[in-house]
Amino acid sequence: MAGLGKRQNTGETSFIDNVTGQKIVKLGGLEFPPRKVWMKTFGCQMNYHDSERILSHLKDLNFSHTEEKESADLILFNTCAIRDLANTKFYSQLGEIKHNKKKNEKLVVGVGGCVAQTEGKALVKKYKHLDFAFGTDVIDSINDLVFRSYAGDGKFSVNAWDRSTDFSIETKITHGSPQAFVNIIKGCNKYCSYCIVPYTRGKERSRKCKEVVEDVRKLVKYQGIQEITLLGQNVNSYGKENNESLAMLITELDKIEGLELIRYTTSHPYDVSDELIAVHGTAKKLSNHLHLPVQSGSKAVLERMLREYTPEHFLNLCNKLRKANPNIILSTDIIVGFPNETQEEFEATLKLLDEAQFDFIYSYVYSARKGTKAAKMPDSLTDDIRGERLRYLQSYQLKIQEKLRAPLKGKTLRVLVDGQSNQKGIKKWKGRTNGNRIVHFEPVDADKNYLWHWVDLEITSATALSCQGKLLKDHGKKIESHDFQCSLG
Ligand code: 5AD
Ligand code: SF4
Repeated sequence: MAGLGKRQNTGETSFIDNVTGQKIVKLGGLEFPPRKVWMKTFGCQMNYHDSERILSHLKDLNFSHTEEKESADLILFNTCAIRDLANTKFYSQLGEIKHNKKKNEKLVVGVGGCVAQTEGKALVKKYKHLDFAFGTDVIDSINDLVFRSYAGDGKFSVNAWDRSTDFSIETKITHGSPQAFVNIIKGCNKYCSYCIVPYTRGKERSRKCKEVVEDVRKLVKYQGIQEITLLGQNVNSYGKENNESLAMLITELDKIEGLELIRYTTSHPYDVSDELIAVHGTAKKLSNHLHLPVQSGSKAVLERMLREYTPEHFLNLCNKLRKANPNIILSTDIIVGFPNETQEEFEATLKLLDEAQFDFIYSYVYSARKGTKAAKMPDSLTDDIRGERLRYLQSYQLKIQEKLRAPLKGKTLRVLVDGQSNQKGIKKWKGRTNGNRIVHFEPVDADKNYLWHWVDLEITSATALSCQGKLLKDHGKKIESHDFQCSLG
């Protein structure tokens, strides 16, 4: 199919059916009555962002989102290939869908995302009840693919790369929240030896700075967005091909009136420039939290991972960032049990945790991914050793975290409330601070809806994993007073 990367002219038209009074969408001779789509997303924020984009496109084809699988006309999976666990979960859920298809012959089933990019053809062949698979670079053509399926095109798989020279999109959101992910760069050129992403997401391509700024300006003005997260597999590479940079982009976004908070993820330490570090000291709206995946504290393991930096370089970056913004809160990703990781190499990671003082970490056991360089490396480690190292590392970090967070008690932090929580039977609300810490609080008025309110909380307890707060002030859905003291944690 031509033009799979981008849909320029969508071609859908709609009319109201005289008899049923329902809206009918017409596309290429087919009529689409109101239908329901159920979608399961695995993996990273990029996948969740893609899913939202898919749902937004499908709205144009008369599909509304349902949480009930049984009532769906279309079932979609957005898959993740980064570790074995997400893979296994996806395969078992895909298997179960065969019962839904038995009950409802008209049900259409599609699989997208990273697994579909590399395994789509084989999946469609293997699973009788799977109608189509679509890769990561054709999500903007989802309506054409669904159309093909309803037009009776049989089983098919599409994993073409978008070969247009520029990457140009508009952010699409379907939710009513004031938070939005904004994809600014796709793909990854790094080829870290353990990682499947460059194979499932393709080469790096950035949107132009001007386009992103205009996009965010519209999100703020017309869709009530107050907090954005700039997204990319390696967001620090943003703009290289256009002589632009993440630092430049953040500086421009910082000027947008009505925008409250800017976050970005995910970073690669090699590409964190001095210019970007400086922006952490100057941009008022840039979050005080930075997620900076280090993966290992061993120089030799980092070399085998092809990460292009040493532990010293990484620690130096942390120091420079803390100098630029003394309130910065750092977190990281760690992989334990990289092929043939020795006990000494593992201990070097523990040492790095001591030195870097991360506020939290995501840690994983190494999982061999087919086609990557690391999957071919000699490896004598057992699953038991890997599991043991992971548990040790996690409890080691918890002690660091506990010490680091204890001084939060008594401070006042501002939080954007994003949901409810139930702790030991007590109904609470929860939200994230500027520094990305989750705080729970009991409402003063039990019946009040605090969702998407900005509130100031006095921290009453802070442990390694959870913070509790007392409600001091409810600002409502917009902040009037910009008292930045509240934004430091
Ligand atoms: N095995 C284990 N963890 C991995 N990650 C990426 N690839 C692998 C793998 N093969 C982790 C890295 C990365 C995070 C998103 O997932 O820590 O930063
Ligand atoms: Fe994977 Fe490395 Fe690219 Fe991150 S920078 S997506 S770990 S290859």
